[in-house]
Amino acid sequence: MAVKPLPTVLRAIDVMLDAPVIPVIVLHDVAHAVPLARALVAGGIRMLEVTLRTPQALACIEAIAREVPDAVAGAGTLRSAADAQAALNAGARFGVSPGYTAALGQACRDLKLPLLPGVATGSEIMAAMEDGLSELKFFPALQAGGTAMLKAWHGPFGDIRFCPTGGVSPGNAADFLALPNVACVGGSWLTPADAVAAGDWARIEALAREASQLKRA
Ligand code: 3PG
Repeated sequence: MAVKPLPTVLRAIDVMLDAPVIPVIVLHDVAHAVPLARALVAGGIRMLEVTLRTPQALACIEAIAREVPDAVAGAGTLRSAADAQAALNAGARFGVSPGYTAALGQACRDLKLPLLPGVATGSEIMAAMEDGLSELKFFPALQAGGTAMLKAWHGPFGDIRFCPTGGVSPGNAADFLALPNVACVGGSWLTPADAVAAGDWARIEALAREASQLKRA
């Protein structure tokens, strides 16, 4: 299958529109990183968010960036400017954060690292907008109001596009993706911990393939 070329300068919107789902990945073993990334790419998903939640995460990003050229390694759970710098140094090409601070926004601008920052309130959306951001992660999506919240935001924030993450599953992903202000969703269901631990890459590829075929508005 022909791989769509990536833009020379990757923006947050490119990350969001590449596939309907951004997998949220937790890795405890560097040996899993490359086969996992290959499985996701084989299933049609190449924007990969590796969360900085384990001591091995940066090494995993490095391995994917080095060995899986068809994948785009990103770093999740960025909570500080230092996290953004470490992610970039490891080879991450985009960042995702659970919340937003002006310091993180500034660091990512300085580093030219596209950032999808998490928001859960109107004030947080406005703070991110003040810093020039219009593509945001809605986190934790289900817990913070789900599709009803996104519908409410569509009025005052109709120019913002969201990536709801947190509680999104195969059972409700289509409901989120049907909304006009949702560009993609994020979720951990593509990389179940037991499948990763068992090296069941075929199962992960199949989950990615299903996810890559979800329809957007
Ligand atoms: C997380 O916090 O791990 C991400 O938001 C993914 O959430 P999920 O496991 O509900 O998909």
